[in-house]
Amino acid sequence: MKTITDFARARRELHPIVMVAAYDALMARLVADSEADAILVGDSLAMVVHGFPSTVHATPDLMGLHVAAVRRGAPDFLVVADMPFLSVRRGVAAATAAAGALMQAGANAVKIEGVTGHEDVIAHLIGSGIPVMGHLGLTPQSVNVFGGYRVQGRAPADAERLRAEARRLEELGAFALVLECVPAALAATITAERAIPTIGIGAGAGTAGQVLVLSDLLGLDARFQPRFARRYAEGHALVREALNRFARDVRAAQFPAREEVLA
Ligand code: KIV
Repeated sequence: MKTITDFARARRELHPIVMVAAYDALMARLVADSEADAILVGDSLAMVVHGFPSTVHATPDLMGLHVAAVRRGAPDFLVVADMPFLSVRRGVAAATAAAGALMQAGANAVKIEGVTGHEDVIAHLIGSGIPVMGHLGLTPQSVNVFGGYRVQGRAPADAERLRAEARRLEELGAFALVLECVPAALAATITAERAIPTIGIGAGAGTAGQVLVLSDLLGLDARFQPRFARRYAEGHALVREALNRFARDVRAAQFPAREEVLA
């Protein structure tokens, strides 16, 4: 199994890190059978699996259920779990309980959006044996503050702030840092300035690794196809065609066939 020390080695050896967001046992098994390095149980599951309009709807209990399912599907794989909305903003004790529950459900590390205002939580978790991955740029839990899913860090002051926050995360002991929807040049600058690996999503080619959501890279959702998420399969068309063939076979009395009937 890969561990967070492999992230550090990959960064030193300039070996790109591959992380995939997956949310259940079946999907976790698919990722674990691939050449990817880690699974992220992202709070995007609130939108992708549960149909909510934003990640604000993910709760610690919901995250725990999905982390446990992913762990059952991928017993020996590196699993990082998102700390959901507000879970790091209710004080160190509450955050430690939430992070501890995710670790006991099967996570090897937690991911935390932002840093300013919860540095104490990040330091305490790391000091307590819980590895922390940072997440800067478009932090979706703050979508209502941003006024939508917009690229972050275009204005020079915002870019400076993100560089300072990345430095702060490294000082606090974060083992890696997701950069979401920031200009490619800024992501490359932060990557060059930091010793910990940056994992990009919509952040260009200059990060130390990349993360995509499994359903995006499989092209499963015909209505959600962000420009930065390359589709490695036309999953939606594939699934629809399979379902239509099933429906046609049933209606034509072609399914089940003799060899598919149990005696
Ligand atoms: O929730 C998620 O899936 C994420 C990734 C998009 C980085 O945070």
